[in-house]
Amino acid sequence: MIDILQQLRVDALSTFSAVQTAEELEYARVVFMGRKGRMADAMKELAKCSDDARREAGKTANEVKNVIEGAFAAAQSRVMHAQNDRRDTEEWIDVTLPGVMSNMGHIHLTTQAIDEISRAFSHLGFVRAHHPEVDWDYYAFESLNMPKDHPARDDWETFFMADDDTVMTGQKGKVVLTPHTSNGQVREMEKGKLPIRMISIGKCYRRQSSARHLSMFHQFEGLMIDEHVTVTELKGVFDHFVKQYFGADRATRLRPYHFRFTEPSFELDVSCSVCNGTGKMNGVKCKLCKEGWLELGGAGMVHPNVLKAGGIDPEKYNGFAFGWGVERTMMMRSGINIDDIRTLYKNDLRFLSQF
Ligand code: DAH
Repeated sequence: MIDILQQLRVDALSTFSAVQTAEELEYARVVFMGRKGRMADAMKELAKCSDDARREAGKTANEVKNVIEGAFAAAQSRVMHAQNDRRDTEEWIDVTLPGVMSNMGHIHLTTQAIDEISRAFSHLGFVRAHHPEVDWDYYAFESLNMPKDHPARDDWETFFMADDDTVMTGQKGKVVLTPHTSNGQVREMEKGKLPIRMISIGKCYRRQSSARHLSMFHQFEGLMIDEHVTVTELKGVFDHFVKQYFGADRATRLRPYHFRFTEPSFELDVSCSVCNGTGKMNGVKCKLCKEGWLELGGAGMVHPNVLKAGGIDPEKYNGFAFGWGVERTMMMRSGINIDDIRTLYKNDLRFLSQF
């Protein structure tokens, strides 16, 4: 029995002193110290011995047990230190090195323009309103004095949600992606609060896609309804906006035009920044505008039929409306010369991060 115990001591000492890793240490622990390990086996053998033999070998067994536990503890501390040393060299980081800055984004240039445009109108008491970008045919066309099949619609035909007249059709016609923000006019009137001074900015959709036209773009729609509103006030609001947004030196002009939802109607022009409204640069025609003016958008005095559609008495109230493209306005101011307007929405950071 004593020989067995001595052999066990020799084996355990050599095994534990050779252990290198936590896995090897655990394996050795199970082999020598586990419930079914060699020490446990030896103790079982010891129990079978005669009393005398047991007394004699029992002392050795205790010694061997202590030696094994000591060897295990020594190996454990060696493995732990080695592990820490390895981590210290392999995972060392220099906390004094300058860090890597993460990229800071900024709002898209169209959103920047939308913020500035609404701020310029808010000075005059125009309150930002939000109207659906997917709407009934009624608000997009019919309530704006454009009955079904009227040729004026052709300029704004857009994406209908379904061709089939029976699908997605309600009392207010078919569902369309709004071709202009003018759908907000009658919707705003229907709120029943007068006077109105609204600026509504949203997305518009048209069946077009080219270097100069987007199938999705933004417009801002202004609407002012009160008693005794005149074209002079329209001109005043237009002047204020242009001077705020484009600069104090820019002049404005109203040009007669035709829209179904306004009477009289105008196109609004801003003096060209390149030739200062003269149309000439060094004796030759200005390359940008050719005649001194750049067209900004449409406007006019709200047609009585539109007021009636919005439940407003045209004998008592009148007003003006205007609608301009955000991208166009923004590009006119900044002088950003983009060959292809679709670049704005390609999400290419090489382009976007310049603004
Ligand atoms: N909705 C027109 C368009 O998309 C622009 C417009 C013209 C809006 C005259 C108006 C307006 O409010 O009075 O081209």
